Amino acid sequence: MKIITTFIFTITIACILLVSFAYSGFYDVSARSPHSAFTNWLAPMAMHASVKRRSKEIAVPDLNDEALQIAGISDFDAMCKSCHGAPGYPAEAVGKGLNPPPPDLKESASAMTSAELFWVTKQGIKMTGMPAWGATHDDEDLWAVVAFMKELPNIDAVSYESMLLSAKGMGHHAGDNAGHHDTQTESHDESEHQLHDAADSTAEASGGAGTEHDHSTHKHGN
Ligand code: HEC
Repeated sequence: MKIITTFIFTITIACILLVSFAYSGFYDVSARSPHSAFTNWLAPMAMHASVKRRSKEIAVPDLNDEALQIAGISDFDAMCKSCHGAPGYPAEAVGKGLNPPPPDLKESASAMTSAELFWVTKQGIKMTGMPAWGATHDDEDLWAVVAFMKELPNIDAVSYESMLLSAKGMGHHAGDNAGHHDTQTESHDESEHQLHDAADSTAEASGGAGTEHDHSTHKHGN
């Protein structure tokens, strides 16, 4: 009985101290001050465990489709590059100022399954700056981005540019990729969904030839 009373007393004091600390303003919320080693260990671990569990049941469509991958690059360029960077492009100001920093998706694409990449892209990650693209985009649009992301480990700066050119007119953000642009100022027009038409029209030409990759040997960067 004495042990239980001591335990409850200790927990109560710990809670009071924690809440007092939160109210005191001593905690530094600046995105420029680094997280503690404990947070750096706990947060990524909890995030990846959560993503793994929640993406288990997702049925992955055939992503080895060149037309789909090319359609995905327009959207990747418009929606992801500003924070995550892209082959030949470092992250822009918005990405450089975030804490935790947006990881290099080339690494993530090697370390995460397609279902996990899709889940994160669609649902976003709380309190990090990673948006839930599912709030504004259809699954089909997001699968195209995932199909492209899976190719990232094989894409250098030169092939990124040439893929962007061949993607002209394809993808949800069709037309956004004609050269360098400021992605922060774009607005999303849901009537622009051209992915399927564009992908269908080129599927025959490309023959849907994709490459199979072995992601099992890679380590996760963050
Ligand atoms: C406003 C900035 C921002 C934009 C735009 C953004 N992300 Fe992120 N993203 C982040 C941040 C920050 C994280 C890191 C979250 C964390 O550490 O838990 C992240 C994490 C991720 C991860 C998890 C990677 C890993 O290794 O854990 C994936 C996958 C991802 N983003 C995909 C995308 C895709 C795809 C797009 C475009 C459709 C996109 N992001 C656009 C900020 C952004």
